[in-house]
Amino acid sequence: MQNQNMGSRNLMILLTLCIIGEVFAVGVFGFACNWGTRSTHPLPPNIVVRLLKENGFDKVKLFEAEPEVLKALAKSGIEVMLGIPNDFLAPLASSVQFAVNWVTHNVSSYITSGVNIRYVAVGNEPFLKTYKDKYLQTTLPALQNIQAALIKAGLGKQVKITVPLNADVYETDTGVPSGGNFRSDIHDLMISIVKFLSINGAPLSINIYPFLSLQSDPHFPKEYAYFGSNSNPIVDGSITYNNVMEANFDTLITALEKNGFPTMPVMIGEMGWPTDGDPSANNENAQRFNQGLFDKIIRKQGTPKRPTLPDVYMFALVDEDAKSIDPGNFERHWGIFNFDGTVKYGLNLGNGRNLVPAKGVRYLARQWCVMSPEANLLDPNFTESVNYACTYADCTSLGYGSSCGMLDARSNASFAFNMYYQTMNQRKDACQFNNLSMITKADPSPGPPSGTKNSSCRFEIMIDLGKHQLARSPSSTITGLGNGLSRIVVITSLFVVSISVLFG
Ligand SMILES: *[C@@H]1O[C@H](CO)[C@@H](O)[C@H](O)[C@H]1NC(C)=O
Ligand SMILES: *[C@@H]1O[C@H](CO)[C@@H](O)[C@H](O)[C@H]1NC(C)=O
Ligand SMILES: *[C@@H]1O[C@H](CO)[C@@H](O)[C@H](O)[C@H]1NC(C)=O
Ligand SMILES: *[C@@H]1O[C@H](CO)[C@@H](O)[C@H](O)[C@H]1NC(C)=O
Ligand SMILES: *[C@@H]1O[C@H](CO)[C@@H](O)[C@H](O)[C@H]1NC(C)=O
Repeated sequence: MQNQNMGSRNLMILLTLCIIGEVFAVGVFGFACNWGTRSTHPLPPNIVVRLLKENGFDKVKLFEAEPEVLKALAKSGIEVMLGIPNDFLAPLASSVQFAVNWVTHNVSSYITSGVNIRYVAVGNEPFLKTYKDKYLQTTLPALQNIQAALIKAGLGKQVKITVPLNADVYETDTGVPSGGNFRSDIHDLMISIVKFLSINGAPLSINIYPFLSLQSDPHFPKEYAYFGSNSNPIVDGSITYNNVMEANFDTLITALEKNGFPTMPVMIGEMGWPTDGDPSANNENAQRFNQGLFDKIIRKQGTPKRPTLPDVYMFALVDEDAKSIDPGNFERHWGIFNFDGTVKYGLNLGNGRNLVPAKGVRYLARQWCVMSPEANLLDPNFTESVNYACTYADCTSLGYGSSCGMLDARSNASFAFNMYYQTMNQRKDACQFNNLSMITKADPSPGPPSGTKNSSCRFEIMIDLGKHQLARSPSSTITGLGNGLSRIVVITSLFVVSISVLFG
């Protein structure tokens, strides 16, 4: 730059202005994300749709066809990828008629009312190793039946099928991307699926998680999990990989090339970084990873093998406090936003824009349930009370290395009591705990610690879903939870896992 004369500098300025103008016209916006609703207090769908639009998300992936969610998306212009849960794979595989009904009811009718459904995602990570062989027989036939049903409905061109796959469907035996191929136990199945998608002009969809690489392997080189670092590069012939995301993606591209599909389109169905529930999951790390990812998306900068970045669906929009924590406590904390649509950390979305929080959210009263000053830690009912609270509410922030992991025993109990009280919509009898607790109007959240890091330990107040005067008897306690019976069953069984994790 220093040798440039005035003329070329003016040209540069002009070009820069043109580029800025172009960016302005097109909008640097054009982001995609996953919107999950496994939450005791999901944000009202109309608030979420506004949140999406104001933050430039014009594509959204849903995990199931929820009428309220789909209705809120009608006429929003937002492109929808509609997921089908794994439980549906067997019935869909066994009956075309079932698939026809599913499409009629869950796709055609919503398209008619203005929902811009562009993809149907059949199953969710059905070949995850931990599922063993459970969905191996049903995924492809289900995919074929959904495709047939879409064609029958006259939607064959407009709506494309895909299967969101986890990155463990491929591997490399050389340790570098050029050794990539499909996992040997599902190699032929993968080829059949890719062939079927390809014939129907549909893309493959893959979920890639650098966080999991880091979290599951204590020797994983930390810097390599993020973008924009030059340490720990992996050299693969003439290509140098500086981050695991690009190396991982190109391993899949190699697998496709090797099997005769060099131009197969591939989308990234999930990618993100959680903020709690694990020592590597915090606002700082999530901000670093996601900013790097947004920068890449804005520049459309792909990988050495696919120079143009495909659509990347961020995982996820908001936290979900009722998700299974089988994979780990971090599973409930993937949101770019908190459960209530408040911003966790800043993200530059290009063009000087930053994240904006949800608007119009109604909260329960500004009051918390805490351990009362008179209560004794040695009270024989203490442990049982905390355990009870954490059985029905989300205590994943209390674990080792988590946002509230540094609390002393009293604050720790207060956190648990409050979480239960809030989850039960501040019902009067939800702050009793054998007389160990009391209601306070003073925010018990800890202030920023003396260190440099921000304290992100929050004593939540739940959002008001108009449910705070529900049943009082202990047996119906759980029915205060919000989303109908099936959700409750999920929550109860998940918290059993949570107890064993938290309480050994
Ligand atoms: C529509 O989808 C929902 C959720 O995926 C499912 O419960 C329902 O059975 C589907 N409708 C039909 C007619 O299959
Ligand atoms: C920490 O707090 C400051 C000021 O409150 C904020 O600007 C910054 O984005 C926060 N950083 C993270 C990683 O949350
Ligand atoms: C906080 O509570 C959790 C859940 O009961 C427990 O596992 C943990 O040991 C407690 N920590 C402290 C410091 O008391
Ligand atoms: C503590 O629990 C015992 C039973 O374990 C019960 O009899 C007693 O009333 C409880 N104490 C308080 C203060 O609730
Ligand atoms: C709880 O406290 C209230 C008032 O402080 C008292 O009347 C009641 O007997 C206590 N309950 C138990 C079980 O100790």
